[in-house]
Amino acid sequence: LRHFLTLDGLSRELLTDILDTADSFIEVGTRSIKKVPLLRGRTVVNLFFEPSTRTRSTFELAAKRLSADVLNLDISTSATSKGESLSDTLLNLEAMASDMFVVRHSQSGAPHFIASSVTPGVAIINAGDGRHSHPTQAMLDMLTIRQNKGGFEGLKVAIVGDVLHSRVARSQIRALNELGVDEVRIIAPGTLLPRDVEDLGCTVEYDMKRGMKDLDVVIMLRLQNERMEGALLPSEREFFRLYGLTEDKLALAKPDCIVMHPGPINRGVEIESSVADGPQSVILSQVTNGIAIRMAVMSMAMGGQMAERQYRQTHTN
Ligand code: CP
Repeated sequence: LRHFLTLDGLSRELLTDILDTADSFIEVGTRSIKKVPLLRGRTVVNLFFEPSTRTRSTFELAAKRLSADVLNLDISTSATSKGESLSDTLLNLEAMASDMFVVRHSQSGAPHFIASSVTPGVAIINAGDGRHSHPTQAMLDMLTIRQNKGGFEGLKVAIVGDVLHSRVARSQIRALNELGVDEVRIIAPGTLLPRDVEDLGCTVEYDMKRGMKDLDVVIMLRLQNERMEGALLPSEREFFRLYGLTEDKLALAKPDCIVMHPGPINRGVEIESSVADGPQSVILSQVTNGIAIRMAVMSMAMGGQMAERQYRQTHTN
């Protein structure tokens, strides 16, 4: 890895390598995360232009468990609020000998733009861009599925709700298909389906009760009102009635079906509290796995950057 911007184009072997590397950071038996010296002397900058609880905190914890120095730039109090351009902010951060920028941005493609403009030697990790991609979220979800199901072969996985506005769903669909599940099933109203749904490699079910049949994994999504931009919002009460995950609907899936959600959850909108907190829920394991996956991605990207730097030094001397 050099940057980690999207799962598009990444092979099953590389995705499996990320999962295996993440596993190596988890203490067998306890699920606690090891502290290792892999990024000692390196500086990681968290650049979050959009709110975050889980992703920002677990990237910070992951960098610290890798022994890196971590800088969390508070965008609301940074000089961007005095009119400084993103490029100038980045130049200044690069001048502080930063090795890695972890970027969340409301604009799809912002991390790619940053990756194309920083000096070689700085790794860019996408922590979620617009509706486009949230690759580390998808990988922590894959790790959680592998832990609970032992692998991917033969699994039927549903993603339920607001797929249209979800960068998480796009990355999950890509990862699930590459890792070889039997079926990725979207369960959503037509108004919350992406236009290119036919090209994503999924089946589509509009009726949630029918869609729950034979599921091994159900992934719930929240209504992403912040990205709906004036579109006709479904009423929350109506949405919950039709697409909210309740105990009754969950009972239609396989008895060992696991319940996932990338968070933040909206109780009573897309998921009933008793399901979110129930025995089939692995939602908090997903959060814990976020630390190990982000350690894996950061250490692999930094390894790639260092190899590239050594190559350039050897070939310019
Ligand atoms: N899943 C996720 O991206 O959560 P945060 O917005 O809290 O980072």
